[in-house]
Amino acid sequence: MRLFVAIELSEELRRALRRTQDALRPKGPDVRWIPAEQLHLTVKFLGEVADRDVAGVSEAMVQAAAVSAPFDLELVKCGCFPERGAVRIVWAGAREAQGVLAGCVEQVEARLEPLGFPREQRAFAPHITMGRVKDDRSAGLLRRSVEACRIATMTQGVSSLTLMASKLSPKGSIYTPVIRAEFGAK
Ligand code: 2AM
Repeated sequence: MRLFVAIELSEELRRALRRTQDALRPKGPDVRWIPAEQLHLTVKFLGEVADRDVAGVSEAMVQAAAVSAPFDLELVKCGCFPERGAVRIVWAGAREAQGVLAGCVEQVEARLEPLGFPREQRAFAPHITMGRVKDDRSAGLLRRSVEACRIATMTQGVSSLTLMASKLSPKGSIYTPVIRAEFGAK
């Protein structure tokens, strides 16, 4: 199955992101907006994992969580990937000020690498994908609107990681939790 490690979002945060999506919707007729219940923060994308390897991957995530400490995640701003030109992804940026999230991501990377999942080469940029665009025909309007968009100042506590399965469907991917692992460190 297709797997990734994610941070699940609180209902309050998802509701706030939904309002942001609603505000941007008129500016982005070409955007496929992610349904609020599917919004998440990706820690590491694993791709296709054979059934026999899922237990090992789960165990690695449980171990990474066991040495990670709870933290507060804060929504900061909206932005687009790539940084210039036609928009492909509309995101909400998240911040964790103490470096605890970065430590948790490092634990996940370190424990999955020996199982054959190469480390991410790019610096970790914590974001929540709100929408995807195949063909941005807005001539800059979408980008300007996203970059001008004020996001609600909002924080949520994070105390676990989730291994998610992603199923592709004609309407977009459906994400289902496989297991959750609670943080064990103080
Ligand atoms: P994104 O938030 O940056 O879009 C499930 O597909 C999640 O895994 C998505 O949220 C996506 O992150 C992330 N992901 C990272 N690399 C991916 C890839 N090569 N293909 C699909 N999803 C990927």
